[in-house]
Amino acid sequence: MSLPPTIQIKDLNHSFGKGNLKIPVLNEINLEIPAGEITILTGPSGSGKTTLLTLIGALRSMQTGSLKVLDRELLAAKQSQLVETRSQIGYVFQAHNLLKSLTAWENVAMPLKLHPQVKDRQNRAINVLTAVGLADRTHHTLTVFLAVRNSG
Ligand SMILES: Nc1ncnc2c1ncn2[C@@H]1O[C@H](COP(=O)(O)OP(=O)(O)OP(=O)(O)O)[C@@H](O)[C@H]1O
Ligand SMILES: [Mg+2]
Repeated sequence: MSLPPTIQIKDLNHSFGKGNLKIPVLNEINLEIPAGEITILTGPSGSGKTTLLTLIGALRSMQTGSLKVLDRELLAAKQSQLVETRSQIGYVFQAHNLLKSLTAWENVAMPLKLHPQVKDRQNRAINVLTAVGLADRTHHTLTVFLAVRNSG
């Protein structure tokens, strides 16, 4: 059985501002990304990459067109549906958005709280930190962790 496309976009338009100040940013976007495909999005600064990614990530409301993520339409989607879609997406922000009061492993494990069926949150987080060479920092809080990192 073939899986539906992970992302399916039809005639998507998006603009910022209103009236005379309206600036169209995304014009007639049509895009299909099949399940399992790795896609790289490139373009000049200001061309709308982040705008498109935040729409796909259900972090920004759709204006016109159709955008399906994991076979769910995001145009006019309810808040609960947007939350459900977000919980199925791994999104690495340029700004790290980590919580200072939590340890490194607690920060990494936080998204798994949305998936209560996952029982070994701590081990999974520590495995990920180990894979990127941060095994010795798993129990540091962010303040200590960044101070250590910045000192080399
Ligand atoms: N919240 C906003 N309000 C008004 N205009 C915005 C807003 N966000 C983005 N824009 C404008 O929309 C256009 C696209 O911005 P966007 O951040 O999506 O581009 P980008 O391709 O991600 O750029 P970069 O490569 O610099 O990250 C730019 O002209 C930007 O100034
Ligand atoms: Mg950007």
